[in-house]
Amino acid sequence: MVSVVTHPLVQHKLTLMRDVRTGVKEFRELASEVSLLLAYEAMRDLELTTETLETPIQQGDFPVLTGKKLALVAILRAGLIMTEAIVTLVPAAKVGHIGLYRDPETLLPVAYYNKLPADIAERRVFVTDPMLATGGSASAAIQSLKDAGAQNITLMCILAAPEGVAVIERDHPDVHIVVAAVDSHLNDHGYIVPGLGDAGDRIYGTK
Ligand code: URA
Repeated sequence: MVSVVTHPLVQHKLTLMRDVRTGVKEFRELASEVSLLLAYEAMRDLELTTETLETPIQQGDFPVLTGKKLALVAILRAGLIMTEAIVTLVPAAKVGHIGLYRDPETLLPVAYYNKLPADIAERRVFVTDPMLATGGSASAAIQSLKDAGAQNITLMCILAAPEGVAVIERDHPDVHIVVAAVDSHLNDHGYIVPGLGDAGDRIYGTK
């Protein structure tokens, strides 16, 4: 399932991110803000129970989070900015990291780094990858999470190409994708069109 977050704040901030004139500082701030707004949507079905407490006025039953604990997993490197923003909303979440590169011969993603919370199987997992392009890395990262026992996985992206969405839907039909927009297509260099360029380079000022 794909949820496109059409909220006007998300769409406005995404347009600013797309603008080639937007510099590193503003791009980073926007990526963090969009990530928070995506998390608001991605986490809307977190379980609640009630806790009895006294306000300064009277006693009552009030909602508190319950159910599975959370894990945020960043796909390196661009996913880092998303987990760093989202962990401010859910500070008890554990954070994992997965790094992948594409083997130049097989063109398949190969993991060079994988550090996950030991109890990932017991946690609800939110994977962050700002750009869902071919879907190859995201699909491989999700597979390694499943191999580690994760069962309830949401993939959070800022932008997606239809090709990437199709790969995740084919490989992992159980995974919910939450994204700010699904663009037109991928170009011959694997960039999302119209897109926003290389998210990692724009976040870190590299090129
Ligand atoms: N990764 C990016 O950062 N941008 C794209 O357009 C595609 C993949």
